[in-house]
Amino acid sequence: MASLDGKHLLLGVTGGIAAYKCAELVRGLRKAGAEVRVVMTAAAERFVTPTTLQALSGHPVRSSLWDEAAEAAMSHIELARWADIVLIAPASADALARFAGGHANDLLSTLCLSTEAPVHLAPAMNRVMWANAATQANVAALRARGFRIHGPGTGEQACGETGEGRMLEPAQLIEALADIPQAWRGRRLLITAGPTYEDLDPVRFLGNRSSGKMGFALAEAVAAQGAEVVLVAGPVALTTPSGVRRIDVRSAAHMHDAVMAELSGVDTFIAAAAVADYRPKTVSAVKIKKSDSDAALALERTQDILAAVSASPLRPKRVIGFAAETENLDEYAQEKMRNKGLDAIAANVVGLSDSGFESSHNALTVFTRSGRYAIPLTTKRQAADVLLDILQEHLP
Ligand code: PMT
Repeated sequence: MASLDGKHLLLGVTGGIAAYKCAELVRGLRKAGAEVRVVMTAAAERFVTPTTLQALSGHPVRSSLWDEAAEAAMSHIELARWADIVLIAPASADALARFAGGHANDLLSTLCLSTEAPVHLAPAMNRVMWANAATQANVAALRARGFRIHGPGTGEQACGETGEGRMLEPAQLIEALADIPQAWRGRRLLITAGPTYEDLDPVRFLGNRSSGKMGFALAEAVAAQGAEVVLVAGPVALTTPSGVRRIDVRSAAHMHDAVMAELSGVDTFIAAAAVADYRPKTVSAVKIKKSDSDAALALERTQDILAAVSASPLRPKRVIGFAAETENLDEYAQEKMRNKGLDAIAANVVGLSDSGFESSHNALTVFTRSGRYAIPLTTKRQAADVLLDILQEHLP
């Protein structure tokens, strides 16, 4: 039996005849060690009763965004954060279209939009609906954003037809969830994340808006796939992902020294940190007093950590950078890739409110030496999964 020991599993049930299998699914998930909470759409309640799933999961079933009592106990945002894994089973054609469209007008679609946990979908529908170009385009868009699609299987359908569209059996879904691919097992990764702070005096510094979320998402995603991960983090307010060794640093110079000290035996280096390019030429030991005249700041270059790793005799097999740009994304990113001798670069547009710095979402354009791959706007955690898949396939 697969193990989901201690995992918080949010099961979303949408309207379809396969919803009857959810009773068995909830029992199986609990047997595999997961704590299960169920959210149903209004259509799902026509196929299976909330009472059944409440009895089997041991928790009240949620179906409305507007349930005051339920929101008081655990709001939909808390529920989205609570989940380690989200499974939507069955995922109807309508649900796939709504998730692909980014809808947020019922509890389940809102949860899918607000969770940072991996979302797994088990489509189930009539074979013609599944084959329809609109459904296939929705599935392709969801896959590109990091949603994991399981099935559908082929066989006799409730409508009497035979073909592709059956929801996978509960046991197959449980196996698929427990078997997170371990494609990075045996690899040693060094990842930088967050900003650097360059001190001017004991109370002031030059910094930037990096939150560290992108680098932490990568560390979490690759550790979950079996890698040994060291994360060198600038000053951020994030918890260390499970299984990751973290080294906290403050300035570009600290980050450089920590990275160089950890380089031996690393096979993949990923630089997601927003490292200061300049630091104050002198650091005052006491607070700089203001005066009535204007002030000018003398700055000097910091060391380029990524370029130094790439030129090091201890160069890891794969050296991957990020490029944060406000214009000419493709051109500037490829230039950085060439100048710093990188194997790949993930470029993002910064200066926007819904991606890049600070946001929990990002869109990336990934360049390897031979290809260009777009990761459309999605959560940083899901973008990390897709980026790892691209690196795994193109930089073996
Ligand atoms: O932290 P978040 O809020 O989640 O935001 C994510 C992010 C926007 C910071 C991240 O996705 C990102 O783009 N990181 C790189 C930011 C950056 O500094 O880009 P750059 O184009 O200036 O630098 C190019 C590359 O060189 C980067 O990999 C950078 O880490 C590296 N570099 C730069 C300067 C320096 N002195 N040393 C370096 O290693």
